[in-house]
Amino acid sequence: MPLLELKNLSVAYRLQKGYLMAVDQVSMEVNEGEVLGIAGESGCGKSTVALSVLRILPKSARVTGAVAFGGEDVLTMGDERVRAYRWKHVALVPQGSMNAFDPVISVGAQIVEAIRLHESAGKEEAWRRARELFGLVGIPKERVTNYPHELSGGMKQRAAIAMALSLSPKLVILDEPTTALDVVVQKQILSLLARLQRELGVSFMFITHDLSVLAEVATRVAVMYAGKLVEVGPADVMFRSPSHPYTQALMRAIPNVHGDISQVKSILGTPPDLTSLPKGCRFSPRCPHSFGRCTVEEPRLLPSTTGSMAACHLVGG
Ligand SMILES: Nc1ncnc2c1ncn2[C@@H]1O[C@H](COP(=O)(O)OP(=O)(O)OP(=O)(O)O)[C@@H](O)[C@H]1O
Ligand SMILES: [Mg+2]
Repeated sequence: MPLLELKNLSVAYRLQKGYLMAVDQVSMEVNEGEVLGIAGESGCGKSTVALSVLRILPKSARVTGAVAFGGEDVLTMGDERVRAYRWKHVALVPQGSMNAFDPVISVGAQIVEAIRLHESAGKEEAWRRARELFGLVGIPKERVTNYPHELSGGMKQRAAIAMALSLSPKLVILDEPTTALDVVVQKQILSLLARLQRELGVSFMFITHDLSVLAEVATRVAVMYAGKLVEVGPADVMFRSPSHPYTQALMRAIPNVHGDISQVKSILGTPPDLTSLPKGCRFSPRCPHSFGRCTVEEPRLLPSTTGSMAACHLVGG
């Protein structure tokens, strides 16, 4: 049984006029001990997926489909059960969280507060845990009493990860954890995650608009486009032989240190307005391989010849 399973998950945000479908019939799973990478351009619904799993969507969101954790239906959990599920089973490192620490409270005190909010740990015990967590994520333990501005960007991101790990969850969702960091610090965070996965057996859902960072950590990769899952498969397949033209375009947009920079191609055009989607395949207006059927019929996610699942008329037939 997968640890986390999304089945036909759809999320629509209510606007002044009508609805905006941010996530449209997405099905995917995270298995125990794996790192599922979710990639896609800005606005394709990645954070909305994360918020749905944690049940922290704004009131304006209408959710359909199913989210199951360890076989338990998350969307119908009662309030008390949800509180026990969040943090203890699934924790989130929200987008921008490294800059969300309260500037006038030490980072350690904020972790202590989070621990004590969810568990009946005493103050001393919670501080002991906070120091231990700092050690686990590679920050010197004595820095636990530092204020956010006394920590570097990389350390703040490590501290946000430490906070997420405080109740030993089985799954941690990281929303753009490396985006604001320079390349060297990005690499350090990626190796930290690989170590945590090895040592703690914790699973990760790693959300990013930058596919290249997933090459280092992901065991499987899911690519989203305009609210849809367009391709998902084992990381080696996705990086070596992507099937969907959008995944291929994202791959071509990655600078290769060994290659020629002139080979890097940005993707022409922009994703569609989610309130007025093109007919057929959503990627067709930007797709170099688009043909008649693509502009009338929406492709379904089907097995490709390389071992991924892809939603493209050229792939699934
Ligand atoms: N509370 C909201 N109300 C209305 N629309 C929203 C709301 N939150 C997000 N959206 C819209 O839903 C779509 C998906 O947003 P989401 O934040 O999930 O995308 P994302 O892939 O995480 O983007 P980014 O890479 O920029 O973080 C976007 O079009 C966004 O404008
Ligand atoms: Mg986001």
